[in-house]
Amino acid sequence: MREYLQAPLLGLSKAHGSKATVAIRGTGSYVPPRVVPNSFFESLVDTSDEWIRSRTGIRERRMVQPGQALTDMALPAAERALEMAGIEASDLGLIVVGTVSADMITPSAACILQHRLGAKKAFAFDVNAACPGFIYALSVARSLMRENGLEYSLVVGGEVISNRVDYGDRSTCVLFGDGAGAVVLGPSNGNGEGEILSIHLHSDGSLWELLQLPGGGSRNPPSQEMLDRGMHFLKMQGNEVFKHAVRSMVEAAQEAMEANGIGPSELDWFIPHQANLRIMELVAQKLEIPPEKVIVTVDKYGNTSAASIPTALDEAVREGRIKRGDLILVDSFGAGFTWGAALFRF
Ligand code: UT7
Repeated sequence: MREYLQAPLLGLSKAHGSKATVAIRGTGSYVPPRVVPNSFFESLVDTSDEWIRSRTGIRERRMVQPGQALTDMALPAAERALEMAGIEASDLGLIVVGTVSADMITPSAACILQHRLGAKKAFAFDVNAACPGFIYALSVARSLMRENGLEYSLVVGGEVISNRVDYGDRSTCVLFGDGAGAVVLGPSNGNGEGEILSIHLHSDGSLWELLQLPGGGSRNPPSQEMLDRGMHFLKMQGNEVFKHAVRSMVEAAQEAMEANGIGPSELDWFIPHQANLRIMELVAQKLEIPPEKVIVTVDKYGNTSAASIPTALDEAVREGRIKRGDLILVDSFGAGFTWGAALFRF
């Protein structure tokens, strides 16, 4: 194991500031044990298990207990990823957390996680890019590793959304869940395993109003009026978001495949953002990716925003479905709007 790790270390430090290949060396995830079935919402709003299943594919989701925060999930997810990578937290040079639901407004979840892990050498910060937050964080970490000649970094996508939805709004409250996923990035071992091939990011702020959480920031700071108006809850124009999500995710996936000169038949796995099974099926269909190559966890976790891709990745790795060397396309869309895709080997 030692030899396996050391040769590439030299490779990355020599390539300081260049386009050295960065690889995924370990994955980890954590979802809270509390399972909330669709029937939970039937007594709160005018909905049904049948509607939720048929319109979204969601059967149940996980929710934190009161008092549990993002880094309470990010910590075990990160520890599992570090263990798989075979490195210590003290080896990390960088921690980036993609999230819109950090433990508090400041400091970042990444700094709290750094402290809790004992990753004393790392610099740490959050990336706020909503559902594609993990893909954005992956891109930022890869660039900074190259720029600074860092050997190892930790990238987390995690979210506590269950306490930011309005349990009187049936069009949003049934959709979301909590969780965290992590990857450890390190130098490539030269055989292609884990190598990130390309990442493609996009934003369109002109459509920000379609998906927003308006209260608590500097525009609408905390006040009794802000709470009375429910501005601390997520607002979404679901069917508008749906249309944009399908179009943008198809475009980003095509861009990633074209950039690498590959077609859908060469992919081993497609991990789309787990917001709605209908979106995932439509995107896969338009990309001509067969259903058996699509990793699905939305049925048991709902939409976990930035956590959805890294948790799905880790589960499929640990179940033995995704194997070392498999070619994987991940693809996401969310508030901002932000969207993006990444192509990598596991
Ligand atoms: O993670 C970031 C990206 N987010 C997404 O990608 C989410 C994208 N949007 C969606 O997944 C879907 O638009 C939803 C699941 C949110 C909604 O499904 P839809 O098929 O687009 O429904 P709709 O918004 O067009 O609403 C159809 C009907 C409406 O009733 P009326 O006006 O036709 O009487 C809604 O009020 O469904 C009603 N409805 C519900 N009925 C029962 C909305 N939510 C519910 C519900 N239970 N939970």
